[in-house]
Amino acid sequence: MSIRPILPSDMAALRIFFASLSRETRRLRFHAPIGELSEHILREFTANPAHVAFVAEVHDSAVDPPTTLVAEARFVRGADSESAEFALVVADNWRRIGLGTKLTRIMAQRARFTGVRRLSGDVLDDNKAMRGFAHSLGARLSRAIGCVRLSLEV
Ligand SMILES: CC(C)(COP(=O)(O)OP(=O)(O)OC[C@H]1O[C@@H](n2cnc3c(N)ncnc32)[C@H](O)[C@@H]1OP(=O)(O)O)[C@@H](O)C(=O)NCCC(=O)NCCS
Repeated sequence: MSIRPILPSDMAALRIFFASLSRETRRLRFHAPIGELSEHILREFTANPAHVAFVAEVHDSAVDPPTTLVAEARFVRGADSESAEFALVVADNWRRIGLGTKLTRIMAQRARFTGVRRLSGDVLDDNKAMRGFAHSLGARLSRAIGCVRLSLEV
């Protein structure tokens, strides 16, 4: 497995990745019961320079396509230049092996490098995995309207 910055050429792979997630995982990631991602969002996610994004991919020459994305993580810097909004998702079959932690560490390192001090994100109330994950990162959780606000000092 390798982790690298996302590229504009990842649009098709990212579409396949999001389509492969369970409906529940897409709901938790996007806070809505979405099906496929639109072309517009896929372009934003792969080619908008305001998004700093990383993907994890696995390679198997016996399958077509040989490369499959199994996780993605991103942050977008806010108007307050010291903070950025972040989100991540790990494929259902690739959980609990430290991938989310690794991606978050890489994001935090990049964020720090660009002058961001805090990564924040909204987490749905019923997202137990993300709450546990936040706890393991030492992130701060605070109540917001209809969700929990996660804040990670980098
Ligand atoms: C939350 C998420 C990113 C965690 O990814 P992951 O790669 O499985 O996380 P890690 O393997 O790095 O887990 C690190 C620690 O987080 C905690 N954790 C992770 N998943 C957990 C769960 N389901 N329940 C409780 N704690 C959990 C554990 O302490 C874990 O350490 P351990 O496995 O040694 O016990 C993943 O579950 C996911 O993609 N969820 C759906 C998308 C989502 O909700 N995104 C958030 C909105 S942006």
